[in-house]
Amino acid sequence: MARREISGSRAIVTGASSGIGRALAVELARQGASVVATARREDRLDELRATIESAGGTVVTVPGDVTDPATRRQLIKTARERFGGLDVLVNNAGVGAMGRFEEADPERLRRVMEVNFFAPVELIRLALPLLSQGTQPIIVNVSSILGLRATPYSSEYSASKFAMQGFSEALRTELIRNHVDVLVVSPGTTETEFFDSVLEKKGEPAWPEHTPVTPEAVAAATIRAMRKGRHAIIPYRWGRVFCWLNRLSPRLMDAIMARYS
Ligand SMILES: NC(=O)c1ccc[n+]([C@@H]2O[C@H](COP(=O)([O-])OP(=O)(O)OC[C@H]3O[C@@H](n4cnc5c(N)ncnc54)[C@H](OP(=O)(O)O)[C@@H]3O)[C@@H](O)[C@H]2O)c1
Repeated sequence: MARREISGSRAIVTGASSGIGRALAVELARQGASVVATARREDRLDELRATIESAGGTVVTVPGDVTDPATRRQLIKTARERFGGLDVLVNNAGVGAMGRFEEADPERLRRVMEVNFFAPVELIRLALPLLSQGTQPIIVNVSSILGLRATPYSSEYSASKFAMQGFSEALRTELIRNHVDVLVVSPGTTETEFFDSVLEKKGEPAWPEHTPVTPEAVAAATIRAMRKGRHAIIPYRWGRVFCWLNRLSPRLMDAIMARYS
């Protein structure tokens, strides 16, 4: 029995111009949600709107940078004015940066934290009054398996995703009284534009070959988890093994990671 109905819900999805966010926006709309979709690339949002509308779905697009407070205010205003409220907030927009910490400048850390942590947290702050009045409301924070176990060459990115895990854990218990759920999605390697859009690439570990999953599979797993009222998912089989191994023996995992540093 589903704990949450997607049909009829009102959702904001950040980072909806590509990858996991786009797949989530399309699938939420297909299942009957009204979606406010945002990202910086307006042409991509236009294409998304055409895709959703041609399938009979409902979407409003808000182009903008999620680190800009004006964009965040516009998202909440749009949900309120166009859909009369908000039930689902998906914080998915994110960026990576790759390379050794000692070779990076402070700006790389600032930018990664701005996009992956401060922006979603401030969007949650703005959304909470509206979400608390919603129907079966939920916040979905897209983290990463690197927010559960960090790897070399991704110190800033891992830190931003660990921050999101800790924040979400605290928030989940605080929001029980508001009846707002918090789901953390920790994807593993997913076939998106993510690795082409990194802020900086100054080296990366030579990982063994591993097959990525599709963003559609991550979106489907996320929506299943939303329906069931789950708190956390890792929508990647090898990611689950990776995290399990780390819990079993962090020292062994450190030794394995050191071989790739
Ligand atoms: N792909 C993976 O292997 C993987 C693994 C674990 C976790 N994740 C997480 O999954 C989430 C989605 O990533 P993805 O894999 O789908 O990558 P993607 O295809 O590159 O999508 C990232 C999205 O975030 C948006 N975005 C980036 N910076 C933004 C900003 N400053 N303001 C507004 N929007 C911004 C991008 O849109 P614009 O460029 O148009 O603004 C794009 O829509 C991220 O949080 C990422 O950390 C991905």
